[in-house]
Amino acid sequence: MSEYRVGVLGATGAVGSTILEVIAERDFPAAEVVPFASERSAGREIEWNGSVLRCRPLSPETIQDLDVVLSSAGGAVSSEWSPRFVEAGATVVDNTSFWRMYEDVPLVVAGVNDEAAEAHKGIVANPNCTTMVMMMALAPIHRAVGLERLVVSTYQAVSGTGQRAIEELRAQSHSVLHGEDPPAPQIYPHQIAFNVLPQVEVFKEGDDYTTEERKVMAETRKILGLDDGVAISATCARVPVVSGHSESVNVRTGEDLSPEECRALLADAEGVVVVDDPASASYPMAIAAAGRDDVLVGRIRRDPDQERTLNLWIAGDNLRKGAATNAVQVAELLIERNLLGG
Ligand SMILES: NC(=O)c1ccc[n+]([C@@H]2O[C@H](COP(=O)([O-])OP(=O)(O)OC[C@H]3O[C@@H](n4cnc5c(N)ncnc54)[C@H](OP(=O)(O)O)[C@@H]3O)[C@@H](O)[C@H]2O)c1
Repeated sequence: MSEYRVGVLGATGAVGSTILEVIAERDFPAAEVVPFASERSAGREIEWNGSVLRCRPLSPETIQDLDVVLSSAGGAVSSEWSPRFVEAGATVVDNTSFWRMYEDVPLVVAGVNDEAAEAHKGIVANPNCTTMVMMMALAPIHRAVGLERLVVSTYQAVSGTGQRAIEELRAQSHSVLHGEDPPAPQIYPHQIAFNVLPQVEVFKEGDDYTTEERKVMAETRKILGLDDGVAISATCARVPVVSGHSESVNVRTGEDLSPEECRALLADAEGVVVVDDPASASYPMAIAAAGRDDVLVGRIRRDPDQERTLNLWIAGDNLRKGAATNAVQVAELLIERNLLGG
């Protein structure tokens, strides 16, 4: 098998460090792995798969000679450097939100819309973690009976904001548990420990939905190819959980789908595990989803008052299938379909 030179941009971050783990776990055909981070981390050593990698800063010289780059260093960095990596001959799988809604950039959930990757022009975007987790459960339903309306409420882990947010939750929790005043929030607008924030990301001027809620609605449409006739409404909340996003989704389908049929459909779906025996307190939970690639779906039941409508509870690891695993799977499918360097 050919081997590829792989760049990991944002290698010291929450997503980038998980990408490094996933590359090693999946035996990705990497001849070389090159970690990139900011100037602050230049030269920093990362232990990886029995060897030591040294972080590079971004410069016209350091970005040469790569086949594929898995990028997660934020939108501003990606906007500048992804095109430069492409110019230098690499194909970029980008985790940031910057490229996702560009018409000529495919937005790919591996296993859901793989064929979209065929049209890439150098950059393939990875969806937002909340959208990704939801797509794993909704795509099989959409394919079988169609979607008419989605009402989504999320309960999102702090690792979705990055490494510093995990530290903020830990520090605040430690203080509260020791009877001390928690340190002032730096990352979130309010204390996150022992709290729930009905705000994920920011409110743009004049919009009463957050940027995260807008992403969930817009990216869902793009990935599933839904037109404006399908109604989507999202409310995103941040909860004091380290890893694993949970989502409550109320789904009206085109044709009737019973809870039993829905369970059978999802049980057959690759990357989805049905956990649905409420009588034995068996349902998807963030701590059960954390650290694994499968998305868990349960609490599947009819809406008591709406026809052709089911309620689902979904949990998935935002850093694994929600970001890193999907990025690596997309890179694998680019290799399988001979789409690198396109
Ligand atoms: N966390 C998630 O669940 C998730 C899921 C999907 C997508 N994403 C997206 O992925 C991106 C990264 O998220 P994260 O949670 O991993 O953030 P993070 O933990 O804060 O990590 C950010 C990474 O970017 C690097 N970086 C920052 N500025 C840079 C620069 N000027 N040049 C080069 N590297 C730079 C950092 O390097 P230093 O260590 O040197 O600062 C670090 O490696 C974001 O765009 C986020 O929206 C995150």
